[in-house]
Amino acid sequence: MHFIQPFSDTTIQYAVKLLSQHNVIGMPTETVYGLAGDATSDQAVAKIYQLKNRPVFNPLIIHVLNKTMAQELAIFNHIAYQLINIFWPGPLTIILPRHPSCAVSLLASAGQSTIALRMPNHPIALKILDNFGKPIAAPSANKSGRISPTEAHDVAQEFGQSIPLILDGGACTVGIESTIVEIDRHTINILRPGGVTQEQLQQIAPTTTHNDTEIKAPGMLKSHYAPSLPVRLCVKNIDTNEGLLAFGSVPSNLANAGIIFNLSPTGDLTEAAANLFRGLRYLDQPTRIQQIAVMRIPMIGLGQAINDRLQRAAADRKS
Ligand code: TXA
Ligand code: MG
Repeated sequence: MHFIQPFSDTTIQYAVKLLSQHNVIGMPTETVYGLAGDATSDQAVAKIYQLKNRPVFNPLIIHVLNKTMAQELAIFNHIAYQLINIFWPGPLTIILPRHPSCAVSLLASAGQSTIALRMPNHPIALKILDNFGKPIAAPSANKSGRISPTEAHDVAQEFGQSIPLILDGGACTVGIESTIVEIDRHTINILRPGGVTQEQLQQIAPTTTHNDTEIKAPGMLKSHYAPSLPVRLCVKNIDTNEGLLAFGSVPSNLANAGIIFNLSPTGDLTEAAANLFRGLRYLDQPTRIQQIAVMRIPMIGLGQAINDRLQRAAADRKS
């Protein structure tokens, strides 16, 4: 069997068999593809860290089938219930205290007393969870620090045949990772901007955004999502040896870029988020250009998450 497979009863059964044998597979979600393993298996979780080359102090997001499964893993409060009632299934991850009888591997929580939970909004991910019947640990299916995958072949590019199966769910519709929140009394603290916007969360409770001086979600390192080429942001001019990541209509002084990828010619932020990682991967062509230049993207709605990823893509790689 080729290691990239479309969705069918047979491939779902194969996926579940691999998971129950502590193997790790590529699984589509609505945000990005995940590198999925049995969250209750130390062996599977260790394999995820090893494949991603991920530091073991950086905990994983645990994917659940539904609220019932979530309540067996974490202690929910009123705001947490409100959030999952509104945003699950969907791109929202909630950090909560681990339930005393939580079966998830402590390695997946990186030894912390909290757990990060999310119910994905993707038919293939939900079908796997339903058939497997246990929570699934799944970080984005890229090597640590690299661009997240939004198509099955991106996962193949990252891991090749070192994983036995990638289920092909087509291009991810959201295209940017889940928003990660923790609840601090009556406030929602946004640790990572993502597919659910701050404006949406503010409907439920006051929000604060976490600043980078103290790294709360240990995965939020300054340099991340990095293409091999350097990235320059909010450009006003361009060089022919640069590729342009455009947004909206392209002004004539930027049109002579070496290559252009437009995230959304009409300036639609939802479309831009869905195309962001694809665009970065496409422009990362050292044989054609020397740098990726990015047009300004407004800081509203999904623009916050897009700009967060772009700033990390542009950050000094050594920090
Ligand atoms: O959309 C997504 O969230 C994707 C898909 C596959 O679900 N997953 C994803 O996982 O983005 P990953 O591993 O690339 O990012 C997980 C982030 C990291 O920044 C990690 O530090 C944070 O979640 N995290 C996990 N558990 C945590 C915890 N207990 N406390 C604080 N941060 C946590
Ligand atoms: Mg990631």
